Amino acid sequence: MKCAAASLERMTSLSLLGLGAMGTALGRVWLAAGHSVTVWNRTRAKAEALTGATVADTAADAVAANQLVVLCLLDDASVGGTLDGADLAGRDVVNLTTGTPDEARARAAWVAERGGRLLDGGIMAVPSMIGEPDAGGYVLYSGDPAVFDTHQDVLAGVAGTRFVGADPGLAALHDVALLSAMDGMFAGVTHAFALLRRTDVPPTEFAPLLTGWLTAMAGAVGDMAERLQSGDFTTGVTSSLTMQAAGTATLERTATEQGVSTELLRPYHRLMDRHVAAGHGDEDGAGLVDLLRH
Ligand SMILES: NC(=O)c1ccc[n+]([C@@H]2O[C@H](COP(=O)([O-])OP(=O)(O)OC[C@H]3O[C@@H](n4cnc5c(N)ncnc54)[C@H](OP(=O)(O)O)[C@@H]3O)[C@@H](O)[C@H]2O)c1
Repeated sequence: MKCAAASLERMTSLSLLGLGAMGTALGRVWLAAGHSVTVWNRTRAKAEALTGATVADTAADAVAANQLVVLCLLDDASVGGTLDGADLAGRDVVNLTTGTPDEARARAAWVAERGGRLLDGGIMAVPSMIGEPDAGGYVLYSGDPAVFDTHQDVLAGVAGTRFVGADPGLAALHDVALLSAMDGMFAGVTHAFALLRRTDVPPTEFAPLLTGWLTAMAGAVGDMAERLQSGDFTTGVTSSLTMQAAGTATLERTATEQGVSTELLRPYHRLMDRHVAAGHGDEDGAGLVDLLRH
């Protein structure tokens, strides 16, 4: 544990509600840094297991103990249920519970009605990355900038911080956008492993090829962003949708040959087909983004 004079000056007290896998990781790191942490968890045994923390009898007691109140619960409904009855006047509530943008906005208004200020957070890390600056984990924050400014040092002690705007919904929106992209990537990875499943190629031999290919293709994200920003979807296109849409038939025939379902591939291919049929075959993948908007 670091005990340098400079860090001692910045030690603070906070309350942490929710000691699941993520909350426990956060609590351990704040305690190890020398902060005074009051904890509450629905199942009390998990709170008592956090050595060095002060266990509050009720959620309201935990909220009353400190100005900075951090929540890391299952979902927005559990946040509402937990804070119901607590006095939030003068409290800075940092909600690290995953939720939707609208839930974050409604929760910010709900906290404000009760005299508190809300900063919403989306954790881009798994518990083992908490307190490990080199692991690359960070938390997206949005909402009251004053809450972020006041508590940034404490928050930065568990993971990197990225404030993305005063609209309380923005952290959740960024969080969900990143998670959705991850799901798309894993859909592709799932399909790729399935294609090789009935062969003698060991998955561990194929994995480095897959990682290398995905890493190389990730460069296209920046190109897509440039096109979306400029509105120019055709200049310099080298992998046109016409070419890609012709190739998708090969992907699907290969899946059929290997006895693999095309259910993960088809939705994306259908989107390409629609855009080509509408006369946009000279664009690349960036042109598909606005097709998804209702
Ligand atoms: N774990 C990860 O890899 C990860 C990564 C990024 C973000 N997150 C987010 O972090 C948050 C917590 O995740 P976790 O991994 O810690 O989940 P977890 O291990 O399942 O813990 C859930 C926590 O919520 C509490 N809880 C559930 N329902 C409740 C209710 N109705 N009222 C009060 N408390 C309730 C649980 O209390 P009990 O102990 O009594 O059940 C526990 O403290 C989630 O929003 C999750 O999306 C997690």
